[in-house]
Amino acid sequence: MIGKLNHVAIAVPSVTAAAALYRDKLGASVSEPVPLPDHGVTTVFVTLPNAKIELVEPLGDASPVAAFLARNPQGGMHHLCYEVADIAAARHRLKAGGARILGDGEPKIGAHGKPVLFLHPKDMLGTLIEIEQA
Ligand code: CO
Repeated sequence: MIGKLNHVAIAVPSVTAAAALYRDKLGASVSEPVPLPDHGVTTVFVTLPNAKIELVEPLGDASPVAAFLARNPQGGMHHLCYEVADIAAARHRLKAGGARILGDGEPKIGAHGKPVLFLHPKDMLGTLIEIEQA
């Protein structure tokens, strides 16, 4: 069901500093920071030949990554995002298999303008999983 790895997200205290690290020390191609107030984050995308790295900084008081960053002040791996062809079919199969979908269980428009779901890390080997319709 899952297809390509779309991105690995890393929560960071500063996307500016994190983007500089990926650009200057690792020699990667990085985007400008994009504030996404609806999602409570500012993101920078690092484009690699086979996937992206999403650098995520909390934005605002109700940011979904604030608690994670409080536990991991230097930053840390936050989630993996896998692509699926049909998110409704993926949701049905996941729910039938007992996986818990975060929030109200309905797909939301994610940071890239495509429908996404997040799966509870306790059902996914301790890893927060994002499913995105490619
Ligand atoms: Co993501």
